[in-house]
Amino acid sequence: MVTVVDINTEPESAARAVAALERGECVAMPTETVYGLAADATNGRAVARIFEMKGRPRFNPLIAHVASLDMAEAHGTFDERAMRLAAAFWPGPLTLVVAKRPDSAIHDLVTAGLDTVALRMPVGITHDIIADFGRPVAAPSANRSGRVSPTTAAHVAGEFADSDLLILDGGPCRVGIESTIVRVAPDRLTLLRPGAVTAEELAAASGARVEMAGPGAAVAAPGMLASHYAPRARLRLDVEDCPDGAALIAFGDGHGRRRNGAASVLNLSPAGDLREAAANLYAHIKALDAAGARLICVEPIPQAGIGAAINDRLRRAAAPRDCDERA
Ligand code: TXA
Ligand code: MG
Repeated sequence: MVTVVDINTEPESAARAVAALERGECVAMPTETVYGLAADATNGRAVARIFEMKGRPRFNPLIAHVASLDMAEAHGTFDERAMRLAAAFWPGPLTLVVAKRPDSAIHDLVTAGLDTVALRMPVGITHDIIADFGRPVAAPSANRSGRVSPTTAAHVAGEFADSDLLILDGGPCRVGIESTIVRVAPDRLTLLRPGAVTAEELAAASGARVEMAGPGAAVAAPGMLASHYAPRARLRLDVEDCPDGAALIAFGDGHGRRRNGAASVLNLSPAGDLREAAANLYAHIKALDAAGARLICVEPIPQAGIGAAINDRLRRAAAPRDCDERA
């Protein structure tokens, strides 16, 4: 059975989470991006439980969350560019993939045996919990593998209704899509997953050029499979004229769009604000999916700023599902 605790009314929330982490249990907790399913990153059994609960393939490594730069440097090697990026964006929605220190206590299951480690310093209660706990916490998004990431405690409860799980409820996540992931290699910076921190911002803060991960890129995030974030409904993108009877995810004031045939409409941001759209994206997909929509049409989303990350997630949600290797 899940236990949902409101962090704004329950002063013992953080202490309860730390105690559960100490016992090697998983705890769901809010971050500024999405809710995470957290466990002690140095405890192999605890990390194995994350993979079991999510049904996640073990070759797909997890992000280790830290509460300080000192904690990050105990596990990863930070060169000048990594330092600049951490200084500019931590705590915040940026994950740095750096060389793993040979003496790091982060379990090999977290890194899937790679010689790199993904590190992120989150904002809010999860940050405080990690600081109290004193060790990194591994935390993938708190959804079953291949499904839409949760941005509310109710989403998490829906994913793990049959599990024994403590869920900290911190309200809806501010950013709403997962962190930007950048690989900091000696010779290059590679954007592995777009997010709220854009490629332009990474280049400006690091002083280095940022290459996009693609089919030809030197590295990839093992979890970036084509089909991901998949709802049950079929998704059709860049729709300007919504067909009759379809569900519609709208964006903007409707100028130049046909919406009146839609069976139901949810607007990501009537004002056309991309940050607001990102924060609403997963909740809107989930709501239309839960209402039984067979076809969800999505209006065009500008590619600027966080729009690139929104479009990335939409393309994955719309991709054909011919493999079950999701996360
Ligand atoms: O915003 C976020 O990043 C959220 C919150 C909870 O922090 N977490 C999250 O975790 O999105 P997850 O597990 O859903 O996505 C982690 C991604 C996966 O695509 C994984 O393949 C990639 O990070 N990753 C982890 N370690 C890596 C490594 N050493 N090299 C390349 N990619 C890595
Ligand atoms: Mg995920």
